Amino acid sequence: MDIAVVKRVSILGSTGSIGCSTVDLISAHRDAFEVVALTAHKNGQKLVEQALALRPRCVAIGDESQYAAVKQALAGTGIACMAGRDAVIKAARIEADWTMAAIVGMAGLEPTIAAIRQGRCVAFASKECLVAAGHLMMEEVRKHGTTLLPVDSEHNAIFQVFESQNKAAIKRLILTASGGPFRTWTRAQMKAATPAQAVKHPNWSMGAKISVDSATMMNKALEVIEAKHLFDMDHRMIDVIVHPQSVVHSMVEYNDGSILAQMGPSDMRTPIASCLAWPQRMETSGPRLDFKALSGGLQFEEPDTDKFPALAIVRDVLNGSPADSVIFNAANEIAVESFLNGSIGFMDICDIIKTILDMMQNDVSGLTCLDDVINLDHSVRVVTRAAIKAADKTGGSKPIQLAQA
Ligand SMILES: NC(=O)c1ccc[n+]([C@@H]2O[C@H](COP(=O)([O-])OP(=O)(O)OC[C@H]3O[C@@H](n4cnc5c(N)ncnc54)[C@H](OP(=O)(O)O)[C@@H]3O)[C@@H](O)[C@H]2O)c1
Repeated sequence: MDIAVVKRVSILGSTGSIGCSTVDLISAHRDAFEVVALTAHKNGQKLVEQALALRPRCVAIGDESQYAAVKQALAGTGIACMAGRDAVIKAARIEADWTMAAIVGMAGLEPTIAAIRQGRCVAFASKECLVAAGHLMMEEVRKHGTTLLPVDSEHNAIFQVFESQNKAAIKRLILTASGGPFRTWTRAQMKAATPAQAVKHPNWSMGAKISVDSATMMNKALEVIEAKHLFDMDHRMIDVIVHPQSVVHSMVEYNDGSILAQMGPSDMRTPIASCLAWPQRMETSGPRLDFKALSGGLQFEEPDTDKFPALAIVRDVLNGSPADSVIFNAANEIAVESFLNGSIGFMDICDIIKTILDMMQNDVSGLTCLDDVINLDHSVRVVTRAAIKAADKTGGSKPIQLAQA
């Protein structure tokens, strides 16, 4: 790889889907990267494997019950071990030139902020944090002069074709969506969808939470908010189009009618590699797009907001206050967790989000600091869990009203 200086890199969430793809790329270019820190939550075994291969200065495991096993497995290697929530944040503070922020959900907020405050380069995957705390996070980015590189394939695509110097000429950002595993299913079929069916994405291999988000198209709704913050665009200039082949990863339309698109294989190693090498490029051994295999053509279609109400709800959220985004995200995280553990049905996910939004959105005043966001996020989780539990006791016949009473 033609990168003049060795980059010191850290990976927050190294044991997840994005984390492992990042580890793969770094492993193939050991001469170009020095690994500073790796963090995980429960998967101590994978963390140890990665640490033995990449020899970071330190590892942090969120789940303290894993500490003894991780420490013992790394004894004598000189790799420092830490455990607990604060340890993950501490690891994110250790000086690195480039940090991958890939912890799933709001758990990633404080570690990501710690990495941003280093004022260097953060490759950003943890979209939930930006959805909930976008205005405050982007303020931190500006204050510390941090370079934020979007990892999400859609935002990475836009980043690659976004002419900052011609921003006033941009008419709209067009986010593509695969449509997920239920694109061609009826509402009745979707009602009976199981967790195993929901996590089986047709094009991408991803963690469980984002796979369910893709199935509800909540993922795309979160991405509209993410794009608004990353590119500082009015949400009315951000459109979503379903593109089942996931070849065009997103587009930017300019005022002269030109539309610039980025294409590539459905493999997250491509956008991650573009962030790792940025502003250069690096060779990867991943799959390549084969145009001959696309002779069936590329399809583009309007999303069906009746089957996928998240795409309609997000527009109300974006017309509301920043608190609405916190509620939208936290209610979804709990609803997805409940769907995955069998407590609710697939179509309940968006119903629950909508109900929690209706219940809570007028009760919150301005969010002026991260603690306000964290506290609201916590309250939404408590309310959503209670609502789901109450509905469960009535066999789901009165979904949320009981918790409201
Ligand atoms: N996967 C994709 O293709 C993709 C694409 C675009 C964007 N993203 C975004 O990238 C983020 C990661 O997605 P993913 O699919 O890689 O998720 P994932 O496979 O579920 O991995 C999540 C990572 O976060 C760690 N983690 C979970 N809870 C934590 C906590 N409480 N404290 C500290 N670490 C914690 C996990 O550790 P353990 O495994 O050790 O428990 C794991 O390393 C998400 O925000 C997602 O929306 C993912």
